[in-house]
Amino acid sequence: MVEPLAVALGVTLTLLVVAVHYSKGTEKPIPDDMAQEVTERRAEMVPETEFAEPMNRSIGGGGGAVAVGAGAEGEAAGELSEEEEVDPSDDPSVIPDDEADVFDVEYVKEGETVAVRENQTLLDAGEENDWDLPYACRQGQCVSCAGHITNGSADDFIIHSNNEMLGQEELDDGYTLTCVAYPTDDLTLETGETP
Ligand code: FES
Repeated sequence: MVEPLAVALGVTLTLLVVAVHYSKGTEKPIPDDMAQEVTERRAEMVPETEFAEPMNRSIGGGGGAVAVGAGAEGEAAGELSEEEEVDPSDDPSVIPDDEADVFDVEYVKEGETVAVRENQTLLDAGEENDWDLPYACRQGQCVSCAGHITNGSADDFIIHSNNEMLGQEELDDGYTLTCVAYPTDDLTLETGETP
């Protein structure tokens, strides 16, 4: 005969086991917007760039790179075309050596007459002969390299690719900035002469 106490104990134990079983599995529920949260956290970890959104962050953002690259190429091309457009009468240095005319320049103080190409400055030509001629900026922005052409007006014998120092009166007197002066005729030059 089954004891009622034993039955009651069995039922109680069974209920306990069932209760313990269903009390497991209480992990934190996955929020619906988990994917969004993770995406935002990852986005915060990506350093900001100077480029305009969204191309640099888009998947396969090579399109943006191509666009930037194309812009850079465009700029480079623009620079090249500007260089190509330099007028030799403004800057004779663009004339190729094998196309350049050659003139006799007498350097009075150095005691020699040398051949100077029309694409070569009077200063460079002198230095090629190892003469220690005066200069500073080499850009026509000071008078350290100034010299005096004894033949007449400087404009009749040289072209300045840049002249930020000498006025017309000084040019008419024959003064020149030798670092930016390209010969257009035979001439006689006194180096180290300032107006
Ligand atoms: S070195 Fe300055 S103008 Fe020639």
